[in-house]
Amino acid sequence: MSANRPAAVVVLAAGEGTRMKSKTPKVLHELAGRSLVGHVVSAARELEPEHLVVVVGHAREQVTAHLETHYAGTRTAVQHEQNGTGHAVRMGLEGLGQAPDGTVVVVCGDTPLLSGGTLRDLAATHAADGNAVTVLTAEVPDSTGYGRIVRDAATGAVTEIVEHKDASEAQRAIREINSGVFAFDGRLLVDALGKVRTDNSQGEEYLTDVLSILREAGHRVGASVAGDHREILGINNRVQLAEARALLNARLLERAMTAGVTVVDPSSVLVDVTVTFEPDAVIHPGTQLLGSTHVGEDAEVGPNSRLKDTRVGRGARVDNTVADSAVIGEGATVGPFAYLRPGTTLGRKSKAGTYVEMKNATIGDGTKVPHLSYVGDATIGEHTNIGAASVFVNYDGETKHHTTIGSHCRTGSDNMFVAPITIGDGAYTAAGSVITKDVPAGSLAVARGQQRNIEGWVARKRPGSAAAQAALAVTEEPAGES
Ligand code: UD1
Ligand code: CA
Repeated sequence: MSANRPAAVVVLAAGEGTRMKSKTPKVLHELAGRSLVGHVVSAARELEPEHLVVVVGHAREQVTAHLETHYAGTRTAVQHEQNGTGHAVRMGLEGLGQAPDGTVVVVCGDTPLLSGGTLRDLAATHAADGNAVTVLTAEVPDSTGYGRIVRDAATGAVTEIVEHKDASEAQRAIREINSGVFAFDGRLLVDALGKVRTDNSQGEEYLTDVLSILREAGHRVGASVAGDHREILGINNRVQLAEARALLNARLLERAMTAGVTVVDPSSVLVDVTVTFEPDAVIHPGTQLLGSTHVGEDAEVGPNSRLKDTRVGRGARVDNTVADSAVIGEGATVGPFAYLRPGTTLGRKSKAGTYVEMKNATIGDGTKVPHLSYVGDATIGEHTNIGAASVFVNYDGETKHHTTIGSHCRTGSDNMFVAPITIGDGAYTAAGSVITKDVPAGSLAVARGQQRNIEGWVARKRPGSAAAQAALAVTEEPAGES
């Protein structure tokens, strides 16, 4: 591959993308965990070019900031006015300084499904054929809006690219289209860009004109037909954005299934490009796996779960759960109906059960929080059991405080742990306690009002009521107060 390493890749991302009807610039729209331009930059990086330059224009501060944050080291060049794709490439190359000696690959920032492999194939064909320009084309079912590839009827050689708006009836019937991806001889490209005119329906400098300019000057012009036309889908509106999401999702799930992951119902599962799996993971219907989520061997996720940037350990079971930036240990059980917020770490074989919310909490191996609880800002040791309906009272209205509970503890149901507080190893707490003081190891803490029974109260205060009758039926004689 490095044999065909290009001198430069130019990514065109200066357009506004008016058809998106959005305040967000088109190339920053999200698709499966990456921006549109992010997908293109990632594919371009697989070519290991000497220079990678993104041409920015519309909302350039926003696009540049995005690239700096997520794709550090990417250069940008500014196209102040959007005078067409040819003009944009000219700005990109000027941004690099000298004319690149070698191959220049141009890609549009709005073709996110393009793979690094297809770019590599294009670069290889370009080099092998000794072309001045090689255009990536595809046969599409509906070529509306795309530039058409015009070939010589006798030889089949590509003669020119005609934009939809400039095409004749006969040319509009052509189904082979320009993907917007090209490999050029860098020096010849610079010369030809200087000759591109603006006498077309849009009054713009078309990059596509470079092809006929080079051909007329006697240089070799070639085309490489993409194996799968869906890969070059250009995103111009939100219908195409959703189409691309579905195509990419199917591609990602196919890859996962081929690698040994069971996806019970691919039509109801969404994954981002950055999600990873181990073989024998099982994904149940209605599940979204986002960001850097990783699902380990034999782990089961879903149904109806949304995990973002979350690690699911081997053999863990995650059911009807929402998790963000959580770490779920091997063999742990989560849900149904759990909410794990950032900073949650569940140890091996631990449990965050039904209607349990956790945040910034470290739960030791074998520790269980089975029912109806909130655990915030806490560290719990190993093999401890937290009673149902417990609240880690972490917030005093101004600051968050931490709770530490040791190993092998048994806390009663309906406890409030008013932080900051520490409960020692092996301690017990009584049900219904509001724990406000530290509990030493091995102690039982009881922190609740004493129970008082006022006997005969119902007979005296609610005479003749159903309750009084029921009580009467099980007591020999009306009881007095004890
Ligand atoms: C372009 C091609 C068309 C091809 C199609 C593939 C030209 C003239 N047309 O048409 O042959 O079939 O892509 O999807 O090249 N851009 C700039 N600066 C500009 C204009 C555009 O940076 O002045 C960028 C846009 O941000 C976008 C890309 O270039 O990422 C393509 O521009 P767009 O307006 O979408 O071109 P199409 O009409 O789709
Ligand atoms: Ca386009």
